Amino acid sequence: MSITQKENKWVLETAHSAYVLGLDGDGRLVHVYWNKRLSAADAYPEVVTPRGISSFDMPDNLAREEYPAYAGPKYIDPCLKATFSDGTRDVVLCFESADVIHGDLPLLKLRMQDVDYPLSVTLCYRLYPAYDLIERWVEINNTGTDAVLLERVWSAQWHFLPNASYRFTHLSGQWAGEMQINRETLTPGIKVLESRRLTSSHYHIPWFALDQGDADEDKGKVWFGTLAWSGNWKLSAEVTSTASTRISMGLNDWDFAWKLEPGATFSTPACFGGFTTAGFGGSSRALHDFIRERKLPHGQMLHKVLYNSWEATEFNVSVKSQILLAELAAKIGVELFVLDDGWFHGRNHDHAGLGDWWPDETKFPDGLSPLIKRVNELGMEFGLWIEPEMVNPDSDLYRAHPDWVIHFPGRSRSEARHQLILNFANPLVCQYIIDKIDQLLSENHIQFIKWDMNRNVSEPGWSDAPGDARELWVRYVEGVYRVWQTLSARHPDVIWQACSGGGGRADLGILSLADQIWVSDNTEPAARLKIQEGFSYLYPANIMEAWVTDMGRADLPLEFRMHASMCGSLGIGAHLMGWKVEQRVEAARWISVYKKIRPIIQYGDQYRLISPQAHGYSAVQYMGKDAQDGVLFVFRTHLTEPAVLPVIYLRGLHPDWIYELEGIAGQRSGSAWMEAGLTIKLKDDQSALRRIRHK
Ligand code: GLA
Repeated sequence: MSITQKENKWVLETAHSAYVLGLDGDGRLVHVYWNKRLSAADAYPEVVTPRGISSFDMPDNLAREEYPAYAGPKYIDPCLKATFSDGTRDVVLCFESADVIHGDLPLLKLRMQDVDYPLSVTLCYRLYPAYDLIERWVEINNTGTDAVLLERVWSAQWHFLPNASYRFTHLSGQWAGEMQINRETLTPGIKVLESRRLTSSHYHIPWFALDQGDADEDKGKVWFGTLAWSGNWKLSAEVTSTASTRISMGLNDWDFAWKLEPGATFSTPACFGGFTTAGFGGSSRALHDFIRERKLPHGQMLHKVLYNSWEATEFNVSVKSQILLAELAAKIGVELFVLDDGWFHGRNHDHAGLGDWWPDETKFPDGLSPLIKRVNELGMEFGLWIEPEMVNPDSDLYRAHPDWVIHFPGRSRSEARHQLILNFANPLVCQYIIDKIDQLLSENHIQFIKWDMNRNVSEPGWSDAPGDARELWVRYVEGVYRVWQTLSARHPDVIWQACSGGGGRADLGILSLADQIWVSDNTEPAARLKIQEGFSYLYPANIMEAWVTDMGRADLPLEFRMHASMCGSLGIGAHLMGWKVEQRVEAARWISVYKKIRPIIQYGDQYRLISPQAHGYSAVQYMGKDAQDGVLFVFRTHLTEPAVLPVIYLRGLHPDWIYELEGIAGQRSGSAWMEAGLTIKLKDDQSALRRIRHK
């Protein structure tokens, strides 16, 4: 597993895959192979130099370049577009040098240079061999004396096997309906997914999976990729006239520009690409392991069962009501009590308060300490909700600094949820927020923060921008990262949860800062099962915060609601004062079950056995890494009689070991559970949780 250079080729090998690129006869850096790892490095294909087809399809347009810049007779979607100070608007790249840095995570850097102008482009490839993943990013350096305007600068273009047809899987949605799974065959042309909203957004997720139409959950070649960026992004999936399929990902070039000053370097966000022959399930598990082991700030921690007060008390917060909730929460086994919105200065409704991050003097006359003290006495940790990027016009902060919000000075400022967005591209704004939140964390014993972001941008103006005002899109996100990193460094034990009205900022960028994501404001369990399944295509269950609430049909059994949330990091968000004693007793029972199985759910392997998208009867399984213990969840939702219930085939068992499945008499081999399967009869709206144990 390494990077080797052979003449004009670089071979990048991971545990099971190989990625090959090289210089063609005309000096272009082109893609050669991304597929199964072969036994000997010289078994990989040769670099092909394209021949033109006609005056309309010259070699430049046919080459499968690793990082095509807009230049020459090239009409495919390029990764780089720039304008030089003399008005020249193309970039002709020529290979300069290669650097291989060996180690656990081998790194290849390929430096290219414009043939006439002082601009260098370095393509970076870092291998994560155990996960069959490659991280790619690009560094653009202005080595001249005049500024260069970057108009598009993507992170990677991924090429797939030539002359094949591909099925494209992607996730789309909306607020309260995130992560819906889409599958479609790519045909000639370009399919674009993007966000123009300042966050990665609820609407599309910067992720793809590609297969040749034959992959399923267990087997088949799947190529997949995701962009580690929490702002505007773009994915371009192109099939050319010569059946060359490629997917590019990077910063959205829509309304984007970056003035690259002399001597400056622009580094793109990282884009991760992976390959597996173990189907969609295999691609998800590779990402799950990678995220848990390599990305998250506290990757191996077991998440606590939390209670969140939002749906119970909304803005109507008082010390008394929160203590009552905390006492009930502690009794049912909650370990972390999170006070959501409504606690800070002037926050009695969503018209006021955002920006003023100190406890409301009327609701908390002695600050947060009395509540935190009581929560800690009850044996729970204390967490708090903040929305630091936002400001209500009715706030002390806005009254003092109306110029700190994103706006065009000559236009009115559109409010959404009565709020405006602070310009985190402005270092003064970032410093103010760092100071305020640092003070809050320093003065109070807070162990968990839910960082929310409840609107998208409009009127994206930045009147005092030092460079091009369109740099806002990138500099804002960098500002968010910087504020978050500074606060995390000062308070390393705080666990952060990322939320943007649910899953509006669920991306690999934020997961370097946050250990969890609040997946959706939709907590109705049947809808949630579908959202959770989409989420699992990329993200492991430990980061998927899932509350049991009273949302949806009141007659849906509590057991069902508990089971649905136990598939992730379990939380309770219901109004506990409204729950009957029997409900609290039952919840306590499930919470204690969850505490026993959570290592398997949060850190095991997940298998999507029967999809809730496809069927009103679904099943998902989690297996410990040692294949000893597992958990099976089965749900029946809105499936009318007469219904034929599918057979469930377990996965991830050792074929020769003997296992028993709770609730089913007899012991069988792993092979038998996996190949002969089992049935679990459920009535409508019923669910089942069954432990799987190696005997
Ligand atoms: C967003 C979040 C909710 C809650 C509210 C509070 O909608 O997704 O969970 O925190 O804000 O205003």
